Amino acid sequence: MAHIIAPSLLSADFARLEQAVALVEASPAPWLHLDVMDGMFVPNISFGPPVIKAIRPLSKKVFDVHLMIMDPDRYIHAFRDAGAERLSVHYEACTHLHRTVQAIKAAGMKAGVAINPHTPVHLLEDIVEDIDQVCMMSVNPGFGGQRFIHGTYRKLDRLRELRELRGASLLIEVDGGVSLENAAELADHGADVLVAGNSVFGAAGPAAAIRALSA
Ligand code: DX5
Ligand code: ZN
Repeated sequence: MAHIIAPSLLSADFARLEQAVALVEASPAPWLHLDVMDGMFVPNISFGPPVIKAIRPLSKKVFDVHLMIMDPDRYIHAFRDAGAERLSVHYEACTHLHRTVQAIKAAGMKAGVAINPHTPVHLLEDIVEDIDQVCMMSVNPGFGGQRFIHGTYRKLDRLRELRELRGASLLIEVDGGVSLENAAELADHGADVLVAGNSVFGAAGPAAAIRALSA
């Protein structure tokens, strides 16, 4: 399967969100990645449901919402109502992860689990059959524009093995430090979705950057 590019709005100019969304809209990227941060789970605060709701009418892309927040159960319906179609929560932020995943699906969304760079893939072995995607962090979450962590390749290989072993059909998403330098190798290691923030919105030509990453 050809990989999906999910540009992350985190690196866009927040004073010109409408233009950033329009740029993605006109691009071949099928998803828009939306990073929600609470200043507790990660040391940064970004945006929440009101901003997502405001841009929802501007886009037909799949809204892939990545919650970097503690106890995300509190906000599942708020994000669904704002227009999220895929909702990822962090393994490290959920005490009752299975319950949270079921609640996301019951709300009508695809459910994802994100794991931090230090979290081993094997901890997902009893949840992989229940989820639609794994968001594998290839940087420590909280900020755009960080350097890709090389150990991600090994984790991707393990996740592919686990997916096969369990006959699961989840998508594997890589998030953080994705660029033209590593996109092809990540796809070779089984990444189905590549999130790209800085390499798109930090580029001189963001539309060309999306096209190049999609190739
Ligand atoms: C990091 C976020 C990422 C971020 C990626 O905490 O989850 O989605 O926007 O940005 P880049 O591609 O710049 O590493
Ligand atoms: Zn993200």
